[in-house]
Amino acid sequence: MPGLLSCPGSLTVICFLSWSLCLSGAQSWTNEVSDVQYGRLDSNVTLACGKSQINIPAVWHLNNSSALPWHQVTSNGSLVLLHVTLSAQGDYSCYDNRGLLLHAVKLRLGHPPGLLSISCRLPNHTYISCSWAESVNTSLAVQYNASFRGTGQEWQPCLMDTVHQNCYVDHPSFWQTIHTLRITATNVLGSETTFARFKLDKLLKPDPPESVLVKEVEGHPKKLNISWNFPFSWQRYDAFPLMFHIRYRPHGSLYWSEVYTEESQIVIFDALAGHLHQVQLRARDEVDSESQWSDWTHLLFARPWEDYVTSEPPEDNFLDNFFYTNTETETSTAKTHSPAPQDDGNLGLVILLVLFAVVIIATVLSLICVLWVRQRRREHVTKQELTSVVKMKSMPI
Ligand SMILES: *[C@@H]1O[C@H](CO)[C@@H](O)[C@H](O)[C@H]1NC(C)=O
Ligand SMILES: *[C@@H]1O[C@H](CO)[C@@H](O)[C@H](O)[C@H]1NC(C)=O
Ligand SMILES: *[C@@H]1O[C@H](CO)[C@@H](O)[C@H](O)[C@H]1NC(C)=O
Ligand SMILES: *[C@@H]1O[C@H](CO)[C@@H](O)[C@H](O)[C@H]1NC(C)=O
Repeated sequence: MPGLLSCPGSLTVICFLSWSLCLSGAQSWTNEVSDVQYGRLDSNVTLACGKSQINIPAVWHLNNSSALPWHQVTSNGSLVLLHVTLSAQGDYSCYDNRGLLLHAVKLRLGHPPGLLSISCRLPNHTYISCSWAESVNTSLAVQYNASFRGTGQEWQPCLMDTVHQNCYVDHPSFWQTIHTLRITATNVLGSETTFARFKLDKLLKPDPPESVLVKEVEGHPKKLNISWNFPFSWQRYDAFPLMFHIRYRPHGSLYWSEVYTEESQIVIFDALAGHLHQVQLRARDEVDSESQWSDWTHLLFARPWEDYVTSEPPEDNFLDNFFYTNTETETSTAKTHSPAPQDDGNLGLVILLVLFAVVIIATVLSLICVLWVRQRRREHVTKQELTSVVKMKSMPI
């Protein structure tokens, strides 16, 4: 008995039984209380009052209350709920005019499934995963059954992960041209089958390269060393080579420089010395030109090697290698911008100095001018004196 009580299932059953007994007044309880009836939302739903034909007037309750949604009661005691909404769900019970319970039923409402919108991805040649979304909110539990085949092949199951509405196929026959995925969605009100057709090589899209590192090359202010790993989901890199597309630019520039390679490491030689650079990578199947490029990796930031001893204050040394997250970039741009107001101050000082020099030069020039004029005048006077002396000398005495 203790074992029975500790089991949540048995507890639920016991609770349910006692609740049902209370409901029926422990008098005329029947097994029918556990009946569940399903109905479509926005339609008319008919609830019959027991199995037998009764011609006495029946009284209906919802959740033990006589308040019912919009309805009619037919001559045989059936309850017709008109244009039902979700609020009409609940436990209905039907009594005869002496208060005797005749029938109880639980009503659940919803929609049958609609078509699904399906999308599939292929991170490598041997794995397809597809996910889907419902076009109709059915408000009832839906079961899915998915299968997959290449043209002219047998259907094989697409293995389910029902929680995430996702299924996958291991080792599809990649070289078949057209593939079909078939998903049947079923609930108590109906079922709907959706087909999706696609070409696997057009769906092939690797995951982005991983563990990307951008480092300075010591002694080389224009070089950057970029290295990365194949995506984890692309394990057969010996059989299926990937092409990598690398792009980089000085931080703030509009134009990318681009490099394509099959290696997983390159050194670029034309970095802009002393500048922070942005670097990004993506990958694609090297052979299959119909396949897709992966998404780009996150932006990485790095600065080429600099001779800090002569050019930079030592506290900037921590910027020399590794990459930065965006927030760190903000701080480094803030740093490069901060000397700007200081430059403005210097410019003002220079203008003041020039003005001052001009004033001094003007003053000196006008002084020289005044002195020169005065000198000329004095010379003129002595000349006049001289001529008058000469005149006087030449005068006959
Ligand atoms: C529901 O019942 C009402 C009243 O009997 C009727 O006018 C209406 O057309 C019915 N609606 C549907 C969808 O059957
Ligand atoms: C009746 O009870 C159900 C739960 O059992 C609830 O979802 C529903 O809203 C209730 N209906 C009314 C009209 O109280
Ligand atoms: C899914 O569909 C396949 C093929 O129609 C069928 O053989 C299989 O029994 C179905 N599975 C379920 C769980 O309905
Ligand atoms: C293909 O991708 C799937 C999913 O990421 C992975 O589990 C599987 O190991 C990959 N297979 C190969 C050969 O890389």
